[in-house]
Amino acid sequence: MSGDRAFSSVAVIGQGYVGLPLALRAARKGFETVGVDIDTGRIDALNAGRTVITDISDDDIAAGLKGGKLSFTADVSAIASVDCIMICVPTPLTKTKDPDLTYIVSAAEEIAVHLRSGQLVVLESTTFPGTTEEVLQPILETSGLECGKDFYLAYSPERIDPGNSEYKLENTPKVVGGVGEEATELAAEFYRQLAGSVHVVSCTKSAEMTKLLENIFRSVNIALVNELLLLSDRMDINIWEVIEAASTKPFGYMPFKPGPGLGGHCIPIDPFYLSWKAREYDFHTEFIELSGKINSDMPRYVATRVVEALNREEKSINGASVLLVGVAYKKDVNDVRESPGLHIIESLAEKGAYLSYHDPFIPSVRIDGIELDSTPLTEAVVKAADCVIIVADHTDIDYQMLADEAQLIFDTRDKMKDIPSSNVERL
Ligand SMILES: NC(=O)c1ccc[n+]([C@@H]2O[C@H](COP(=O)([O-])OP(=O)(O)OC[C@H]3O[C@@H](n4cnc5c(N)ncnc54)[C@H](O)[C@@H]3O)[C@@H](O)[C@H]2O)c1
Repeated sequence: MSGDRAFSSVAVIGQGYVGLPLALRAARKGFETVGVDIDTGRIDALNAGRTVITDISDDDIAAGLKGGKLSFTADVSAIASVDCIMICVPTPLTKTKDPDLTYIVSAAEEIAVHLRSGQLVVLESTTFPGTTEEVLQPILETSGLECGKDFYLAYSPERIDPGNSEYKLENTPKVVGGVGEEATELAAEFYRQLAGSVHVVSCTKSAEMTKLLENIFRSVNIALVNELLLLSDRMDINIWEVIEAASTKPFGYMPFKPGPGLGGHCIPIDPFYLSWKAREYDFHTEFIELSGKINSDMPRYVATRVVEALNREEKSINGASVLLVGVAYKKDVNDVRESPGLHIIESLAEKGAYLSYHDPFIPSVRIDGIELDSTPLTEAVVKAADCVIIVADHTDIDYQMLADEAQLIFDTRDKMKDIPSSNVERL
């Protein structure tokens, strides 16, 4: 650390949905910033001024590079010269839904080779309580440096919400917990410089658990409303009307909407990190399992409802042409990881439907032997489909044209609510 500022330089390991906005923010705040990624294609694109995620434009990258504070590299040795190293690598699940810490472990091993005295290392990836101290710290200490004495270690969960233009890094408080008081204070000071508002917790485990609480809260509430949707369907009650009515209560209620299922790299995955860790304590996390089950059954439910809707039109799903509008896991993002759209395609293809999709953010998808390219959303394409399913309600879609041209629309996002049309079936 140098000069009159506590920190002046930063390395961000992992230049994806989390790491890239962080690197840009750090450079804008005046830190000498290096974005590090093992994906050389990604680094080449960024160095050429091309973005790799939807929330960041080419102009943002160009402005960052032009400002002279930002660089990108695939060479991890660049971390040797910075004050603070932030780790933003993926934390997926294995096929058996166990945490896959491979990326954190390999990033930590690479950092350990170049770690030097006085540096602050912060993990931002979402993970189970204990990862920072039980997994990361021992690997970093293979450098011969001691945590809390020679280098400092902390955890601060990333709370970014891709596609959310209202809440970003600069207006969302950072939760920070360090290994020991000195690390906590240093990390808090760093985030005050970088992000603004900081909420300090007593240890890394509390900070790790905070992120899981936030995501489990969403998963459970979405599952609850999805279950009520299934019941309302049988009882012939319009759940959307019920949610709208309940939302008029000014206290004690927060609206969640049903949908085609969860997607992305966070909410379908993170809760299971905690379930796995809970087993070490002989504890079974029932809410997590139940909400995971309800939410992951939703794409199949959508497929069943589409079959029924076609049946009412005296059409069989076998041989029907079905067009998905939006295959990304949510509105206005270019992320298809865990997307319910993929499962809907799979389910309907199994039943003999001919599938196509349109998504301005996703040029092609590959699902277990099915390969599809995004098709232009023309009137002819819409008219030709026996059913159009709205799966991701991207902003730049001509929904009026869908209402005018489609034979049948199955709307999983309640997007057609205000567009008068007789051919729409709501989830
Ligand atoms: N995407 C979100 O909305 C979001 C929000 C909050 C938290 N998170 C968490 O943040 C973490 C990162 O998620 P993401 O969506 O940014 O992932 P991502 O896949 O978009 O980006 C991760 C990047 O890390 C790179 N990488 C992997 N191993 C590396 C290594 N050893 N060295 C350098 N680079 C490496 C990959 O090439 C990739 O570019 C995850 O733990 C996720 O749960 C994600």
